[in-house]
Amino acid sequence: MGLFDAAEFDAHEHVSFFADRESGLRAIIAIHRTGALGTAGGGCRIWRYRDEAAALRDALRLSRAMTYKLALVELPAGGAKAVVLDEGAGKSEALLLAIGRAVDRLGGRFIVAADVGTDGEDLATIGRATMWVSRDAGNASDAADATAYGVFVGLRAAVRWRLGRADLAGIHVAVQGLGRVGASLARRLAHAGARLWLTDLDAERRTRLAAELAATAVAPAEIFALDVDVLAPCALADALDATTVPQLRCRVVAGSANNQLADPALADALMRREILWAPDIAINAGGAIGAASSVSLDAAGGAPLRARLDVIGTLLTGLFERASRERTSTLVAAERTARERFAAMGGTP
Ligand code: NAI
Repeated sequence: MGLFDAAEFDAHEHVSFFADRESGLRAIIAIHRTGALGTAGGGCRIWRYRDEAAALRDALRLSRAMTYKLALVELPAGGAKAVVLDEGAGKSEALLLAIGRAVDRLGGRFIVAADVGTDGEDLATIGRATMWVSRDAGNASDAADATAYGVFVGLRAAVRWRLGRADLAGIHVAVQGLGRVGASLARRLAHAGARLWLTDLDAERRTRLAAELAATAVAPAEIFALDVDVLAPCALADALDATTVPQLRCRVVAGSANNQLADPALADALMRREILWAPDIAINAGGAIGAASSVSLDAAGGAPLRARLDVIGTLLTGLFERASRERTSTLVAAERTARERFAAMGGTP
């Protein structure tokens, strides 16, 4: 099968490959759509991929998801993604500046933000080589906090929809991945009275956070089969696959990870099992909202941002209603809604 026919290639507008001999940079920037304003937003991921095909697939899937995510929260831009192949040489200043030059060559069609493997400091370095850097440069932890708050609000909406519970007190939640978003989400859940089971590949991280939050630390492979109300996937892509979905005993899946479903057909499998899945493109949109805002969530002037993020709860309830009305999965309901909103903002979905 040729590249243009690959399932993840959805008539992307522009896919570029960048190489820089001096710094060793090998990167792919995929622009799915630029929208009516001619610009696309998305993160820069630095990751050790199995091979180049896996990196390309990730870039294509993540950029498409970004178009949908921005449309769902009515931010007027298309979606893109930068993927940098981590060759094990580390994240040098030269590498970050080479990323900046690559972004710059796209002339403003792509505005880069932080993602797995990059943080606010990296963005500040990238920003020395290009002006096309998201406003969250310097405070990527703010974006992660905004994401976590949005996931918290969305998880609460899902619990209300599926379990008929107005608050999270006593709700049992399993959190997979305790990085910037997962840890922040776990703290918010603990504060709301949820009982937590926590896992991370980093054993020390899971033990430390479990001790702080009076939670239970479990090994990574154990997280799926726990008898809990909610599973919150906050690690990497493909947490839900043909092996893990049959193990689930929860009634709600609501977490921050991008591309949680290894295969879109799993959305139907979850629906058949009456497990309510909060689509990642909706529930994790808080980071994009945060990146488009110039304030921190907990700063004195953070109330407007909090109000913007609260919309994620309403958005998810609307998607659950639509899925139920149209007798389809929450994934299909989210993608239909995203395409309609993208078109309403003048783009071609
Ligand atoms: P991070 O890199 O800070 O944390 C990821 C954590 O997951 C790490 O602690 C890692 O050890 C752990 N992990 C990886 N694979 C695992 C596995 N199989 N089992 C258990 N733990 C595992 O990343 P961050 O920023 O917290 O993002 C988490 C997810 O949320 C990613 O999928 C990211 O794409 C998504 N996301 C993040 C946003 C942000 O604002 N940071 C915005 C929207 C989505």
